Amino acid sequence: MPQDTASPSSAAASTANDAPGKTVLIVGNGGREHALAWKIAASPRAAKVFVAPGNAGTAVDATNVPIEASDKEGILRFVKENQVDLVVVGPEAPLVAGLVDDLQAAGIRAFGPSAAAAELEGSKVFCKNLLRSANIPTADYQTFRTASDASRFIKDRYPDANQAVPVVVKADGLAAGKGVIVCATRSEALDAINRIAGVREFGEAGNTLIIEERLEGQEASVLAITDGETILTLPAAQDHKPAYDGDTGPNTGGMGAYCPTPLVDAEMMAKVERDILVPVVHAMKRSRRPFRGVLYAGLMLTSAGPKVLEFNVRFGDPECQPLLMRMQGDLLEIIEAVTEGRLGEVEPPGWDERPSICVVMASEGYPGDYEKGREIKGLERAAELPEVKVFHAGTQQVGGKVINSGGRVLGVTAIGNSISAAKLQAYKAVREIRWPGAWCRKDISDKAL
Ligand code: AMP
Ligand code: GLY
Repeated sequence: MPQDTASPSSAAASTANDAPGKTVLIVGNGGREHALAWKIAASPRAAKVFVAPGNAGTAVDATNVPIEASDKEGILRFVKENQVDLVVVGPEAPLVAGLVDDLQAAGIRAFGPSAAAAELEGSKVFCKNLLRSANIPTADYQTFRTASDASRFIKDRYPDANQAVPVVVKADGLAAGKGVIVCATRSEALDAINRIAGVREFGEAGNTLIIEERLEGQEASVLAITDGETILTLPAAQDHKPAYDGDTGPNTGGMGAYCPTPLVDAEMMAKVERDILVPVVHAMKRSRRPFRGVLYAGLMLTSAGPKVLEFNVRFGDPECQPLLMRMQGDLLEIIEAVTEGRLGEVEPPGWDERPSICVVMASEGYPGDYEKGREIKGLERAAELPEVKVFHAGTQQVGGKVINSGGRVLGVTAIGNSISAAKLQAYKAVREIRWPGAWCRKDISDKAL
């Protein structure tokens, strides 16, 4: 029998009180962190789950504390004052800023890579160089320190101003997913170079830039949990980054995801593990940046096989939501084992065989400037639907009301006997929820069909 994935906390409730359970703090406030809080709170090992700063959804499934993810001192103080046993860091920025290093230096157990290991996401140049040195399939690339060098490269390589220029221009550093510009023409490439390294639209992230070959194919996300020795690969998921249906419109943080994706079959998964994940974990160890945490490979499934577009050093958002909806094992046990370097001793989790999908509902105007502070209605009715879990992202509780406070507001997640059944159920829940200006993509998971 498939487990009742829509309410994992029921199984845990009876054991949480009698076992001397763990106090866990999750850092972040997105849909990923709500899914983590929900899943970790369901563990029989969890006594208390805090989320800093959290959202209106984590306020229900856990306890929010008003500390920003960037506030290292505040987090350290809270952890000491509240005898927190384990900190789970959701987003990349605090990882790159060394939150895990600081917690560990203070004797506190923390899940996530060190700042040195988080460079894999924090610096695209570091990542590309590591991939090249370890012979891991990725797009060909060159790095540049100035806009003029990069522009000269484009003009020399593509002398005809009208010829196709299939390149991608990337800022080296973190730019909230925006520092990647996919180009088709010479003027687009030159404009992208100017935005990143000329006018510095992404600030210091553009101190170095990469020009790489533009790859063609479907994209997939393969995530693995690792303690630096053992790798636990999770089922493949597919994100939907462009804002509108049919993959049109501006890029976003991700408008929906489903899992597993049939685009990655068992044979390709084995190849991804053998040719990408294992060599990266080894290469990180060799470069004295042992990687512990979640390794997220963003892949392009090209006709020549899967190639790495990027690495992230954390769970994907929204991929985390459908993934955790299907995970049957104890995530907290796995996370604790990673922090103790004994992932190899833990039984891999089971997975609900049924697929799951997450549809992101967004605010009017997102991914540009968006409207906030509008009351969200229908959440209770959506929650009553079977096999549905509404994960919150940009929400806040104000008085008795839930309002939107971010661009991506909710991740409406459902599980079903087929991808289309899961899709139907997720959109049924979406239809129950309303606030002025709310919108979502209507075609999440269609790429699987
Ligand atoms: P990244 O943050 O590096 O994953 O890039 C964001 C998005 O840009 C990816 O999800 C792809 O859609 C696209 N992209 C990045 N690199 C390439 C590439 N070499 N070829 C084609 N598309 C790319
Ligand atoms: N869903 C893409 C990301 O988390 O980076």
